[in-house]
Amino acid sequence: MFQTAPLQAAEKPDLYRELADQARGLLHGERDRVANAANFAALVYHALPDLNWAGFYFFDGSELVVGPFQGKPACIRIALGRGVCGTAAATRQTQVVADVDAFPGHIPCDSASRSEIVVPLFDGERLIGVWDVDSPKLARFDSEDRAGMERLAGIFVESLRAA
Ligand code: SME
Repeated sequence: MFQTAPLQAAEKPDLYRELADQARGLLHGERDRVANAANFAALVYHALPDLNWAGFYFFDGSELVVGPFQGKPACIRIALGRGVCGTAAATRQTQVVADVDAFPGHIPCDSASRSEIVVPLFDGERLIGVWDVDSPKLARFDSEDRAGMERLAGIFVESLRAA
């Protein structure tokens, strides 16, 4: 059974560094997308405080379709350009939303979600999907979370390519 040690760091950048090391170890030697996405979502969801949803939407060639996640059941399909996820995919920019009620077109899945971060996943020019994390706290995600989540998402994308 794969065991991950509890994270020790008190500061966010150190926390994300530790988490990145754990993610690299967890995904090492495996390229299967579902397997890596499932383990990655479970790792992050249980490691970081104040989250109510963490998971993937994968691009199926026309829209985003929910993939492995932790949290309550979620919306299944999201069109590019719609909601926070579709906006991240269409603009290729990470979306950090301090208050989901203030984001035009936000798609509510779990009514507990108050803030959200969505990182688009690209392999070069090719859209793979998005990595989406929700919190029941307002303004849960800051620029350190953005840097940390982008780094983590990069580890996931890299794991799909590795020989
Ligand atoms: N809130 C997202 C939808 C997905 S759920 O948060 C899991 C959005 O607006 O795209």
